[in-house]
Amino acid sequence: MEKKKTSFGTSIGFELAAAGSAVGLGNLWGFPYKTSANGGAAYLIVYLACILLVGAAAMLAEFVLGRRARANPVSACKQASESFGWFGLAAVVIPALIMCYYFVLGGYTVKYALNSFAGNAGNFPVFAGNAGDVILHTVLFALLALAVVAAGVRGGIEKTAKILMPTMLFILVIISSFSLLLGEGVSEGLAFYLRPDFSAMSWSGALSAMGQAFFSLSLGCGAMICYGSYSGKKVNLFRSTAVICILDSLLTFMVGLAIFPALFHYAAVSGVSPAALGMGGMGLMFITLPMVFADMPLVGSSLSLLFFTMAAIAALTSVISILEAVTQFVIQKFKIFRTRAALLVTAVCVALSVPVGLSFGAAMNGESLMNLFGRNLLELLDMITNTILMPVCALFACLAVGWIIGPREAVRTIAPEGDGKAHRLLGLMLKLVTPVLIVLIELFGIFDLIMPLENGVRRFSSGGCGIVVCAYGVLLLCALVYFAFLKNTNTGNNSDELLVDALEAERVKAGPSRGWYRPE
Ligand code: PFF
Repeated sequence: MEKKKTSFGTSIGFELAAAGSAVGLGNLWGFPYKTSANGGAAYLIVYLACILLVGAAAMLAEFVLGRRARANPVSACKQASESFGWFGLAAVVIPALIMCYYFVLGGYTVKYALNSFAGNAGNFPVFAGNAGDVILHTVLFALLALAVVAAGVRGGIEKTAKILMPTMLFILVIISSFSLLLGEGVSEGLAFYLRPDFSAMSWSGALSAMGQAFFSLSLGCGAMICYGSYSGKKVNLFRSTAVICILDSLLTFMVGLAIFPALFHYAAVSGVSPAALGMGGMGLMFITLPMVFADMPLVGSSLSLLFFTMAAIAALTSVISILEAVTQFVIQKFKIFRTRAALLVTAVCVALSVPVGLSFGAAMNGESLMNLFGRNLLELLDMITNTILMPVCALFACLAVGWIIGPREAVRTIAPEGDGKAHRLLGLMLKLVTPVLIVLIELFGIFDLIMPLENGVRRFSSGGCGIVVCAYGVLLLCALVYFAFLKNTNTGNNSDELLVDALEAERVKAGPSRGWYRPE
């Protein structure tokens, strides 16, 4: 019974769900504009190397934590060492924070997809400035995620991934093939994307690629611990990690194949330089691409519909892993029925995403609303989570598995049938290589926030400093709450969901509701 309800049914279901978590707006939005800003092909090569060097080992570490405990991130980290449980709590708080802006961005993709035939070009500030519209689409997107998570691991998350991931791949094949056939400008676009010029790559570009690889694999925020806890007993996690990393890299690569030839084609036919298109900026997906679609006679609207539907799918399969990581903890710690737990978490995060959406919308119109430390709330949350908190969490996951659980035991958890001398390499990666690289990402991220580069000169930023303090404040708060309230209490495991279900069934049989909270 436990197997039936609280684990993925097949390895491919698990791998597609985890790859779905990985492939998201980070790949569709973040990767193309960062690649443009950092010299094209060289960035792509460094990014792929980072997936291999930092991503794969950190992902294995998170899977090990989850699978050993078969529990939410707090219990999973606590099982490795009681004094490490605090970063498990951070791994539940971080996805909650990410959700508050991912709902907003997901809402934008839905809005853009629905608006494809009316035309999106030039409409970004109008969309962003319409509070009602932003809220409506944010809620719509959140409801989609809620529906999937409420249906459970196997009936919701796995089924959705099995349908949506191939759909996304199919759409991407259509768009990239079309883009490659556009003619004028395509070869320049391909050269930019595929012919490496390492002189255009700085150290900060390399570190940005490492951070991007990291975010793209959904590391350092509980999602992979949570999915690892649901992986079937027989699944070989070495194989799954390889499949997930390859799928994520392949899709990212194809996104570049879809976008760069089309952008260079548009630049060639409209007589503008590619740089003038704002390729290296955050507006690439929501501002530049709609212009490109609008300029294609006949097929532009259909391509726009396909592209933004794909973006909405990518965002959805990612956000469900974030929602699940928090929901899993709420179900297991507070013994609340899944639907109610998911609804509760979604409601809180949607409420918080409203100010985030409004603040972002105002910023996109050149105004400032509820800004903190000189940033709109979306940018602020992104920096706190992505730049500072996620690397810290992943670092502790590697250290916990490398030094406390140990590589031999880790390999037994990863591949129950044994895997030769894999523990030597894994030990080296988890104890040394990956932690050192993660510390580099963290230090660079902090340095860049405190001393940002402006017009070629680095200057102290008090706002950046405030963000760093705020992020470490969140970590401190997690540690305080953990040591005060969670360390010596039962934080649950996956089989609690079955217990809660049984109690719920009993309650329904017994008649009128006696509340939604179930004491242990
Ligand atoms: N990997 C997702 C992306 O590339 O957009 C983002 C993400 C998903 C981060 C899930 C964290 C997470 F838990």
